[in-house]
Amino acid sequence: GLTAEGKVAFLQNLVGNRGDLCDETLQNASQTFGFDISVVQKLTATQFLLPGFVSHLWASLLLDNVLTCAPPNEQIDTHIHAPQYVFTGTGCDLPLLQWLEKYTFPREQAFSDPTYAQSAYQRAVTRTLRNGTTTAAYYATIHSEATKILATICAETGQRAFIGKVCMDRNSPSTYIESTEDSLKTTNEVADFISQLSTKGRVKPIITPRFAASCTSELMHGLANIAKKRDLPIQTHLSESHAEIEMVEKLHPECSSYTAVYADHGLLTNKTVLAHCVHLSPSERKLVYDANAGVAHCPNSNFSILSGVCNVRRLLQEGIKVGLGTDVAGGYSASMMDAMRQAVIASKVTFMNSRDASKDGRKPWQPLNLGEVLYLATLGGAKVLGVDGVVGNFEVGKEFDAVLVDLKPGDGRCVDVFGHDGIMDSIEKFVYNGDDRNIAKVWVGGRQVL
Ligand code: GUN
Ligand code: ZN
Repeated sequence: GLTAEGKVAFLQNLVGNRGDLCDETLQNASQTFGFDISVVQKLTATQFLLPGFVSHLWASLLLDNVLTCAPPNEQIDTHIHAPQYVFTGTGCDLPLLQWLEKYTFPREQAFSDPTYAQSAYQRAVTRTLRNGTTTAAYYATIHSEATKILATICAETGQRAFIGKVCMDRNSPSTYIESTEDSLKTTNEVADFISQLSTKGRVKPIITPRFAASCTSELMHGLANIAKKRDLPIQTHLSESHAEIEMVEKLHPECSSYTAVYADHGLLTNKTVLAHCVHLSPSERKLVYDANAGVAHCPNSNFSILSGVCNVRRLLQEGIKVGLGTDVAGGYSASMMDAMRQAVIASKVTFMNSRDASKDGRKPWQPLNLGEVLYLATLGGAKVLGVDGVVGNFEVGKEFDAVLVDLKPGDGRCVDVFGHDGIMDSIEKFVYNGDDRNIAKVWVGGRQVL
């Protein structure tokens, strides 16, 4: 086992892993990350506290040949399209606008059938829970009935969720579009329905203009009013692909940028979740920062549908809130472990490109490390969704959302650990090679949901 001093040293070591915090004392670190320092002293001889996850998750290690990284390791998917779960892993051969037209809109249209929606949404929620996603920000479809079904499934299974009825009243197929009036009306209706579900506030509505290209000015203004009146968060897509940016700029010559379109329509708030933000200009990033809006970084999707590589290091350095999303089915995986891996890869691509191109003497953009992607997948995501007062880490007083990670040496699961592996090696192996077979239990709000 580890002595108290050993645990503290271990903790410091992990905090140091965040790079920018190398010289922080443990006390400072505990303040920075918001965990109660006394818990370190309470650990048994066989338990570890992991700040990489702590502030972001926390783990214990049972050493009698069964290695268990124990709670919490909650994961927060800040951007996922529940109806697109049905074609996850297909259709990754087209860029965004063509991908929407050919695969996405027809598949989403099918959710006008509540029976189909019930079956598909049940599977989507079960899959994400199995992968350890304790909080998900979902885009549903334009259909109010199906959206209510998704909310009910989340309430019943116990997953913490933000449920967005998708709004789109222009540039959409004639069979998958709504009038401005209907869009606003059903948004209110679905919000009313979700608010009366008994979920202890764990399932909430989120205002969801799909993206500026598919929403008229009137709709965007109307949705901003609803968000303000009901004090609700907002989610939308921003600056994903070059063709999309051009389209939005053409639609709104009166606005100074794509980001300004949202700002000018009242949609850029401190509760707004902006998916992607791959190609933002400096002035656009300033708009996002000034509004204290958050970014859902979805690297798998950005690679899969050829959008580009988001420079997350720069967003973080500029003080913008960032979480991770799977963006199923733009992204081909519903796993947040995958999102972490792909975030590391995207940051390494950014690093290599900046290193190769940095003849101007600028420093290359440093890749994200393990602690940082764990942070993005937990507390970072909680901040983006405005639930960091409730979840995101194990700070005393927060609710217990957790995942029990089980890596059994030599038992044939996807991660193989050996005696020479330290806890960090084990966590790293889990992040890079783990899958739902390694997730033994899941809790949300203290209740075991899987
Ligand atoms: N932009 C507008 N709609 C979508 C969507 O469904 N997925 C992604 N990745 N981007 C979008
Ligand atoms: Zn998306």
